[in-house]
Amino acid sequence: MVKRLHVALVYNMKKEIVDEVSIRDEGRDEEEGEIAIRTGTELQQTRPDTYAEWDTEDTILAVKAALEERHVVTMIEANEEAFQKVLQVQPEIVFNIAEGLRGASREAQMPAILEMLGIPYTGSDPVTLGICLDKSRAKEILSYYNVPTPAFQVLTSLDQLRDFAITLPCIVKPLHEGSSKGVLDSSIVRTREELRAQVERVLTDYDEPALVERFLSGREFTVALLGNGPTLRVLPVIELLLDRLPKGANPIYSYEAKWMWDQSDHPIEMYQCPARIEPELEHRIQLVCRQAFEVLRCRDWCRIDVRLDEFGNPNIIELNPLPGILPNPDDHSAFPMAARHGGLPYNAMLNAVLDAAVVRTGLI
Ligand SMILES: Nc1ncnc2c1ncn2[C@@H]1O[C@H](COP(=O)(O)OP(=O)(O)OP(=O)(O)O)[C@@H](O)[C@H]1O
Ligand SMILES: [Mg+2]
Repeated sequence: MVKRLHVALVYNMKKEIVDEVSIRDEGRDEEEGEIAIRTGTELQQTRPDTYAEWDTEDTILAVKAALEERHVVTMIEANEEAFQKVLQVQPEIVFNIAEGLRGASREAQMPAILEMLGIPYTGSDPVTLGICLDKSRAKEILSYYNVPTPAFQVLTSLDQLRDFAITLPCIVKPLHEGSSKGVLDSSIVRTREELRAQVERVLTDYDEPALVERFLSGREFTVALLGNGPTLRVLPVIELLLDRLPKGANPIYSYEAKWMWDQSDHPIEMYQCPARIEPELEHRIQLVCRQAFEVLRCRDWCRIDVRLDEFGNPNIIELNPLPGILPNPDDHSAFPMAARHGGLPYNAMLNAVLDAAVVRTGLI
């Protein structure tokens, strides 16, 4: 039993959506619309998915309540004042669920501040968080260590399509987003024309490079890992049943599938946990996930997306070292679901993450 600690919970909360406005003036696709979001005193124009990665108040309060079962918790919002706040609060350890404010290294912002101040925190360090958010950097490391991941190319301009050499079909994604932002049903491309259109969409809408990957058509899994080194635990594997998607939809867990089609009043039952798979396949999935966790130097927890290639071999799609943790089981949040099936209800799961960090940092 870990002693009672002063824990700071560091988070970013989804803003209040106040008004739907047209973006006609900016000459973009009118149908997509745009949402005005209130941030303190100012009104900011932003895309509908801008804050998809951030946590809701419900999630943040659920994490706080879980940690309060055993510790004293102070809340710190990961905004521009966070540095001062951490200095003032002087927590013994930070529970980090902050997605960060902006930029490709946003998830690394709070951990970098905490490293500078010498305060221990849960989860991966700024290097790993930054690398995993840039999916191409993560894939380069996986490839170096021969951990299977689909062939890919990063495009920063449409001109680079001239040298594009990956066999279609492919999937086109923004280089550094999560929560399926920018991964739409239309992101699978089967022709050069579709490829061009999707690369253009990512470059324009997200103002960031497009990652184009070979599309793997096999089964999809997501795997939660908890702990470190010899005590690293792979929680029960989840299969995403892609045949449960609406008729005519492409077989991917797209933004539409995650945030629009799967609603609590008409849910799509896509998750199967534990996955119904042969022990041999389960072993191979667990193995690539452990390897990915190790070579990317993840800590304490991570959720890893996996897809089978045409030979049935598990490939790493991406790593989420700050996994989503919605508390309500009806919301089908993968990490808490895997933990629940592994004998760790929500509160125990979060305290297990904290314990892993406490042991790792020698705080006990
Ligand atoms: N190379 C690929 N082959 C087949 N399907 C893919 C590939 N890359 C992505 N997908 C599909 O697109 C989905 C979203 O892609 P990805 O996991 O990279 O995005 P994300 O926004 O980081 O996801 P998350 O919500 O897990 O953070 C995957 O769950 C999978 O269904
Ligand atoms: Mg994913």
